[in-house]
Amino acid sequence: MTATMVNGREIAKEIRNKITLEVSQLKKKYHTEPSITTITIGRDPSSELYLKLRTAACNEVGIFPKILHFEADVPEKTILQTIQSLNDDPAVHGIFIQYPVPSHLSSNKLMRTVSALKDVEGFNPENMGRTLIGDEFLVSCTPLSVLTILDHEHIVLKGKDIVIVNHSNVVGKPLAALLLNRNATVTICHVFTKDLKSYSCKADILITGAGVKNLITKDHIKNKAIVIDVGIIKTKDGVRGDVDVESVLEKAALLTPVPGGVGPVTIACALSNMVKTYRNCVEKE
Ligand SMILES: NC(=O)c1ccc[n+]([C@@H]2O[C@H](COP(=O)([O-])OP(=O)(O)OC[C@H]3O[C@@H](n4cnc5c(N)ncnc54)[C@H](OP(=O)(O)O)[C@@H]3O)[C@@H](O)[C@H]2O)c1
Repeated sequence: MTATMVNGREIAKEIRNKITLEVSQLKKKYHTEPSITTITIGRDPSSELYLKLRTAACNEVGIFPKILHFEADVPEKTILQTIQSLNDDPAVHGIFIQYPVPSHLSSNKLMRTVSALKDVEGFNPENMGRTLIGDEFLVSCTPLSVLTILDHEHIVLKGKDIVIVNHSNVVGKPLAALLLNRNATVTICHVFTKDLKSYSCKADILITGAGVKNLITKDHIKNKAIVIDVGIIKTKDGVRGDVDVESVLEKAALLTPVPGGVGPVTIACALSNMVKTYRNCVEKE
C-alpha cells in the first residue's frame, strides 16, 4: 500500500474560488473593498516569502492588502499605538501581524491589543478562548488548515486517537481544542515528551509540527495512519517537513507533502478569516 498524497494546492484553489465569489457579492452589497493591513517588523526571509504569497492570494480574491513596515528596533509603544489606530479605523477591516517579531516586543501583548473583531490570525485571547469553549469564530489559520484538510478528505474525527507533536500557542494548543470539540481523543507531545514513539504509534491521526527534519519515520506510526505534516524546514534540497516521506509512504494511509500540503491551505484559511473580519466590520455598521 502507498499512502494517498493530499494535494494542498488544489484544496487551497477551491477555497480561493469560493472566496472570490463571496468577496465580489460582499463588495456589491456593502460598496466597499475588504482592506487588510499587515504589520511587518524587521526582516525575516521566511516571513517575507509568506507575505509575498499571502499578498498574491489577497489580490487574486479581491482583498486589498496593505503593508505597514517597521524597522527591527521599533519601540513597543509605537507598535501598540499603531495597532490601536488600526482598530479604530473603519477603513481597516482586518489586522495581520507578521510573526516572529523581534524579541524586545511581547507577542502576547501585541496579540491582546489587536481587536478581537479584526483579528485575522485568531490570536487574540478572546478568540482563543472562544475556540477553547467550542464557540469557534476566528480560529488560528494553521490549526484551521489542518481541520480543513481532514474535512476535505472526509476523515471522521469523533472517537479517533489523535496525537499532535507541537504545543505552541499558535499551532498545537488551538488545534487540540478544535479536535476535542469534535470528540477526538487528543494527546499533545513536545520536546519534553519522554518517549514520542510510544504515543505516536497509537495514533489514528498523527499531526506533527516540530520543525525537525525526519523526526517521524515509519517506526513512529501505526499501519494506515493519517499523517499531517505541519513542519517547515529549509534544507539544501529545498523545503521539507518533519516526516521522512520515503519511509512513511508505504505504511500510512494518507500523507500531506511539504511543500504543497498544509502551507497553501493555511494561506487560503487566512483569506477566509479576512472575509470574517470584513463582515464583522461592515455588518455591525
Ligand atoms: N505549514 C504551515 O502553514 C505552518 C504554519 C505555521 C508554522 N509552521 C511550521 O510548523 C512548525 C511549528 O511552528 P510553531 O510556530 O508552532 O513553532 P514552535 O513554537 O517552535 O513549536 C514547535 C513545537 O514542536 C516541539 N518540538 C520541537 N522539537 C521537538 C522534538 N524533537 N520532539 C518533539 N517535539 C518537538 C516544540 O516543543 P518545545 O516548545 O517544548 O520546544 C514545540 O511544541 C515550524 O516548522 C513552522 O515553520 C507551518
